[in-house]
Order: sequence, then structure tokens, then C-alpha cells
Amino acid sequence: MPITVSELATQCQQLLTADEGPEGRSKVASLLSTTLADPDNINALIPPGTGERDLLYKDPKLGFCIFAHQYQGPKESLPHDHGPSWAIYAQARGETEMTDYEFATPDSEEVPGKVRPTRTYRLQPGDAHVYNEGDLHAPVRSGPTSLVRIEGMDMSKITRRRYETV
Ligand SMILES: [Fe+2]
Repeated sequence: MPITVSELATQCQQLLTADEGPEGRSKVASLLSTTLADPDNINALIPPGTGERDLLYKDPKLGFCIFAHQYQGPKESLPHDHGPSWAIYAQARGETEMTDYEFATPDSEEVPGKVRPTRTYRLQPGDAHVYNEGDLHAPVRSGPTSLVRIEGMDMSKITRRRYETV
């Protein structure tokens, strides 16, 4: 039987209740890797008709949110972090080229810092990567892709900062 959103959510909740820090998140990333190695699980979590950003689950206690993303064509984002949150990207279909960044000029309350790339790598189906608070990254997707993404908190009401690349 393929996994259900509710089963995945319960397993994430258990791991993050035991350790909400980077270690616990890393265990959640491993769980996502294992889960997405099974095409039936992919089809259960990201069925046809999934949009670009569908909220599957919001945890009432810890506040983390599980999203399914399905992009029909190329899609890229500017360098960003997730503000006060962490995030896990778990590739399900297609490929994401991810670039990590660091600050080239300091980030301050008044002026967003400028950023420069440090490394680029590919996320392929079954790859899951943790971005802890403040980790800067930018995904580029040159074809259709699907992923499961978990954010540490509901970011919908938090203003995102824009960083320029040097
Ligand atoms: Fe991100």
C-alpha cells in the first residue's frame, strides 16, 4: 500500500518531536528519500492534478508544513533563504539544479545583503536536502519536475527578503 499524507505526517512529527534541530531534520530528509524511492508513494503524494504549491498538511503542534509541488515546465527562483524557518526539498520527478550562496556583503535589517554562489549540485529523484535557517539557495528546473517540500513553519504571512547576486 502506498503511503498516505497522514502516515508521512505522523512519521515526520515523531522525528521532529524527538529532535526539532538539524539532526531531526536530517532524519526527516532520509525518510523522504526512502519514501520517494517508491513510485507508488510518489503517485500517492503528488498525484496528477497537483498544482505548483499544494499544502498537504500543517502540523497543529510543531507548525511544520508539507507541500507537494508540480511544475509543468521550467521554473527557477532567485537566491533566498526561508527567513526564520528551515526547509527540506525532496525531489520526486525530474531534476533540480540547486546552487548554494553565501553573503558577499553583510545582511542587515535595513539593506538585504548581496550574495555569491558557492556550489551547484543536482537533486534527482530520491534526493532530499535540508536547508537550515539562513541557508541561501536557488533552484533551477529546466523541465517538468515534482517535489515534496517541508517548511518548519507556515511562511505564508512572512515577508520574504530579496537578495541580489554580486
Ligand atoms: Fe527555498
